[in-house]
Amino acid sequence: METCKSGSEGGSVKPVLVKEQGARFLPYKTTTAINLATYLAAAGRKVLLVDMDPQANASSGIGVLRNKREHTVYDLLIQEADDISIFDVIVPTQRGELVVAPCTVDLAAAEIELVGVMAREYRLRQVLDPIRERCDYVIIDCPPSLGLLTINALVAADGILIPIQCEYLALEGLSQLLNTVNIVKSKLNPSLYIVGVVLTMYDSRTRLAGDIVREVRHHFPQETFQTIINRNVRLSEAPSFGQSILDYDSTSPGGLAYRALAEEVIARG
Ligand SMILES: Nc1ncnc2c1ncn2[C@@H]1O[C@H](COP(=O)(O)OP(=O)(O)OP(=O)(O)O)[C@@H](O)[C@H]1O
Ligand SMILES: [Mg+2]
Repeated sequence: METCKSGSEGGSVKPVLVKEQGARFLPYKTTTAINLATYLAAAGRKVLLVDMDPQANASSGIGVLRNKREHTVYDLLIQEADDISIFDVIVPTQRGELVVAPCTVDLAAAEIELVGVMAREYRLRQVLDPIRERCDYVIIDCPPSLGLLTINALVAADGILIPIQCEYLALEGLSQLLNTVNIVKSKLNPSLYIVGVVLTMYDSRTRLAGDIVREVRHHFPQETFQTIINRNVRLSEAPSFGQSILDYDSTSPGGLAYRALAEEVIARG
């Protein structure tokens, strides 16, 4: 996921949620993308949520597939004549401050079709350019692999926001991810940085969860957010109603946690 920041607040923060190729250990990207985007919008920030995962979970989870436009992120990325703009793709939500650039399963083809495109790693960055200045945050939900779609997100982003689950193997995929971030940094996007690490699926009853929290805070003392997202069934129910946790159950522990996370993200600027 990513964020676009500009205008009165200056600077720009663009976290991207990423998960390792074939790995199980860095999940909860989409949940974080949807709910962070919603709470940032509820706090009055202008937010664009871009769905870069062909599974389209962010699009369906936030309930915009119904009013999908003729064009999606796929058309935007693979078009040749540049006659489709991001403004032809974004759809409104019930919150005026939040718009979504949805995708469908078609986007899977872009992973292959982009290979022959010039400056293929920069496609997303180029097509988001016209809207960047109008947003406070652009949040890009990434697919589970480190393929060309994820690379496009990392190149378009100012920063990356990494969710880590407080469970077994949680840290195993991290080094590979950080490796990719470093490669993207050195070759494609020198200013890319880690906006934050968010601990999620925390279960206070397990000792392991506490150990992982300590270990992550040790490795990322600055980056780790104070807010920890607990394991919360309401968070897993909300997407099937096409709702964020704010709309589905704002007083649930998950709702309160994502509200607090959004406040921290805003405070980091
Ligand atoms: N804190 C939580 N408590 C309980 N369930 C959660 C929590 N966070 C996420 N989930 C659920 O876990 C599942 C995986 O989360 P999510 O879809 O956010 O992961 P993802 O990283 O986007 O996965 P993928 O790589 O497939 O896109 C979903 O069913 C989601 O509803
Ligand atoms: Mg996802």
